[in-house]
Amino acid sequence: MKTAITEMFGIEHPIIQGGMHFVGLAEMAAAVSNAGGLGIITGLTQKTPGDLANEIARCRDMTDRPFGVNLTFLPMVNAPDYPGYVRAIIKGGVKVVETAGNNPQAVLPYLKDAGIRVIHKCTSVRHALKAQSIGCDAVSVDGFECGGHPGEDDVPNFILLPRAADELEIPFVSSGGMADGRSLVASLAFGAAGMNMGTRFIATREAPVHDNVKQAILAASELDTRLVMRPLRNTERVLNNAAVERLLEKEQELGADLKFEDIIEEVAGVYPSIMREGEMDRGAWSCGMVAGLVYDIPTCQELIDRIMRQASEIIDRMDALRAA
Ligand SMILES: Cc1cc2nc3c(=O)[nH]c(=O)nc-3n(C[C@H](O)[C@H](O)[C@H](O)COP(=O)(O)O)c2cc1C
Repeated sequence: MKTAITEMFGIEHPIIQGGMHFVGLAEMAAAVSNAGGLGIITGLTQKTPGDLANEIARCRDMTDRPFGVNLTFLPMVNAPDYPGYVRAIIKGGVKVVETAGNNPQAVLPYLKDAGIRVIHKCTSVRHALKAQSIGCDAVSVDGFECGGHPGEDDVPNFILLPRAADELEIPFVSSGGMADGRSLVASLAFGAAGMNMGTRFIATREAPVHDNVKQAILAASELDTRLVMRPLRNTERVLNNAAVERLLEKEQELGADLKFEDIIEEVAGVYPSIMREGEMDRGAWSCGMVAGLVYDIPTCQELIDRIMRQASEIIDRMDALRAA
């Protein structure tokens, strides 16, 4: 399938794996890219720019296909060495960067000068238009359903995607709630040029996480995610567990007085224990409502082939409807 996104990134299928903390390692990105999608290494999961340079080199050893790096700008106590990460990306010859979390304007000139395509992930039409105006090549439009940070507007993709199509001139992909061929055809119908998936890619054979994480997604229904940190205006959609229930109780108790320090135990530095050790109740971890649509743990190749086959069957069925 050829779309503005496959052409822009030089990939076979219009399917992107969004950056994911402690999931987007070289193994994940290479598996998605080898299957014809765009795999993405999560920059900040690597402790230093030097570590990121090594991860990029490892990924290049595993695939000849294009892959990207995610750079997330989120409120953090100590700001990471962003200029260093950008240098590692440029030196590593990476051709696509997914930015997220905040306006990427400060790093954009360096990336553009190096001929890197930038896709900015945003959760509102307003932010998508801003990304377009500062020179991003594409945007990833992340609806309220998404795993991770859906923003504070709570607009689901049935509205957000066609709104984005009505306003944007640059190509965009859908993100949040995407799982299968139906998601892809619906995204195209809404005007997107492809789709981005997070949660669905964790439940694959190659995802470099503990099997408990994959089983938790498999067992979860669409009712099992919760929104945390809303009082801090840093809302995150996570899978419910004992730590999340504790966190939500604190939010309820403290109301407007809640501070980050009150919930630090449930949210800070918990990813290594969860993703590597499989300690599922260690803290809050991002997961999308789409967990309800995850029924198996295929390889990335099986998943992407199945999505493309299903999309093609749906399009044929639509054609037959029109002809009838
Ligand atoms: C475990 C997990 C970790 C994530 N970490 C990041 C991250 O570090 N940076 C980022 O931009 N997005 C992150 N995301 C968001 C994904 O890139 C993607 O936008 C989102 O998962 C799409 O929604 P879906 O899960 O419904 O597919 C994360 C998502 C998950 C599930």
